[in-house]
Amino acid sequence: MLNLMQKGSMEERKTYIVANWKMNFTMEESNLFLHKLAQKIAPAKGLEIILAPSIFTLQSLSLQVDYKQFRLAAQNFYYKDFGAYTGEVAIAQLRGIAEYGLVGHSERRHIFGETVEDTGHKTAAAIRSKVTPILCIGETMEERANGETNDVIYDQLVGGLSGVTSSHIRHVLIAYEPVWAISTGGGGTVSAVCSPDDLLDTIKVIRSHIKHLYGAKVSKDIRVLFGGSVNAENIKSYLQVDGVDGALVGGASLNVESFSNIIRKTKEIRQEKK
Ligand code: 13P
Repeated sequence: MLNLMQKGSMEERKTYIVANWKMNFTMEESNLFLHKLAQKIAPAKGLEIILAPSIFTLQSLSLQVDYKQFRLAAQNFYYKDFGAYTGEVAIAQLRGIAEYGLVGHSERRHIFGETVEDTGHKTAAAIRSKVTPILCIGETMEERANGETNDVIYDQLVGGLSGVTSSHIRHVLIAYEPVWAISTGGGGTVSAVCSPDDLLDTIKVIRSHIKHLYGAKVSKDIRVLFGGSVNAENIKSYLQVDGVDGALVGGASLNVESFSNIIRKTKEIRQEKK
């Protein structure tokens, strides 16, 4: 597993773009997508492009992928290492196939009832299996309207990181995905756009909670991504926000053209920031 922080502090800070394909694409479509994307994308130093396909295509993609170009992530997994858990896949079984694993995506929390305790177990299991957890957090529209954003984010961070010691926190990525800004309107809410100013406010909240939990250095070093209707038109405005290290892309990652445009814009902004 990558030691995200040590790597970043010795080299330039990485940017992470994650394609969350959710429950889309057949095996054939996934293979074809990878093939087409690979022809369009040249590897770039400091840019990690991570594909999170449906679990059943992970192994097939792992056999074809050029790891200089792309990394793979599991969208979901169970936290027990093995046993009588019909229908589940352990993160331990995905070791060597997926380098990353999403934890606590809002669709898991709101549609499938994943609890903060579950997210804590999953983050710890990923670390145990040497897979980098991407802990997804974010408030619903209703929670935001009630002024509960800070508390919700705090609870999701405390719960999701409950099994993560200060020596392991460097292996975790955080993804802030406000439920109300996700294009599906996950959780049955109406989607809205998260402005870069809104994002900056919440990134500060996240980093201040991390400071409280793990100290100032970790709060500065930890990688925080944004997700919520990211596309080629708005990616630059989000990556310009102080403290944002990348994006988690749903809908716009399902089209080779739009996803490769997101990557092209990300490369441009990394150049502009130098
Ligand atoms: P959209 O980019 O479709 O809003 O999805 C965001 C998301 O849920 C990524 O994990």
